[in-house]
Amino acid sequence: MAEVIWGLATSHVPSIGAAMDGGRTEDPNWKALFDGYRPARDWLAGHPPDVAIVIYNDHANGIDLDIVPTFGIGTAERYEVADEGFGRRPVPDVVGDPELSLHLLEHLVDDGFDLTVFQELDVDHGLTVPLSVWTPDPGGAWPCPVIPLLVNVIQYPQPTAARCYALGQAIGRALASYDQEVTVGILGTGGMSHQLAGARAGFINPEFDAMWLEAIETDPAKLAALTREELIRLAGSEGIELIMWLIMRGAMNDRIARVHETYFVPASNTAAALALFDNRAPALR
Ligand code: DHB
Ligand code: FE
Repeated sequence: MAEVIWGLATSHVPSIGAAMDGGRTEDPNWKALFDGYRPARDWLAGHPPDVAIVIYNDHANGIDLDIVPTFGIGTAERYEVADEGFGRRPVPDVVGDPELSLHLLEHLVDDGFDLTVFQELDVDHGLTVPLSVWTPDPGGAWPCPVIPLLVNVIQYPQPTAARCYALGQAIGRALASYDQEVTVGILGTGGMSHQLAGARAGFINPEFDAMWLEAIETDPAKLAALTREELIRLAGSEGIELIMWLIMRGAMNDRIARVHETYFVPASNTAAALALFDNRAPALR
């Protein structure tokens, strides 16, 4: 079987990647955010998985806005880093795991989740910034192959939180039926509260974020019951990215152990958080 050993929830704000690429992580306005990551990065360095699944959204960089799949999965050998208009980030391309991608695809379709298949895909900050949060100095390669799992959070109608949680549970079942023994790290990306445009641009809701950070561990079903409209009202029009954390959570066990959490406002225009959970059996923690 493929066993999820940890889940990492993290914001994907592009300027976090830009601060790392530009060597500004010790600047006064960034230092606290990056200091907050350190305990999680240290723990993750000691717990490398064989493969990672990154639940993320493209921001019209790898996929044209004329075609917006609700859910998609990459099945490629390799994913190039997208040029988002400022030149591509100086980070490695992403190596895929086509065999596990195809296994997930087949099982998810059989389980009622009709994913769009990406045999080619350029990956944007939605995927590369979480990889940088996990691995600040990848050198020539990221620590393991990566499977991109895409979610539409940018165009109405986004999938419901309940559907995302159910997709995560289906991913958990699909992983359990894999015929190879591999360990998996799963990343739920995006959030926390933020709104980038419109009358509420700059909107942040720390009370909602604190509730979400607690309930993602202890009561994900409560979060899965939130409607699209409630999520946008409470977390902002881009804060709805948080539904991707529920896919991560659905693929994990009922009881998980929080390893580390950090919350920082603002990273660019966004409430940025990291929450790391150990998904192994309690005796192994
Ligand atoms: C910002 C946040 C995002 O989630 C994003 O995709 C782009 C920009 C920001 O806060 O700048
Ligand atoms: Fe985003």
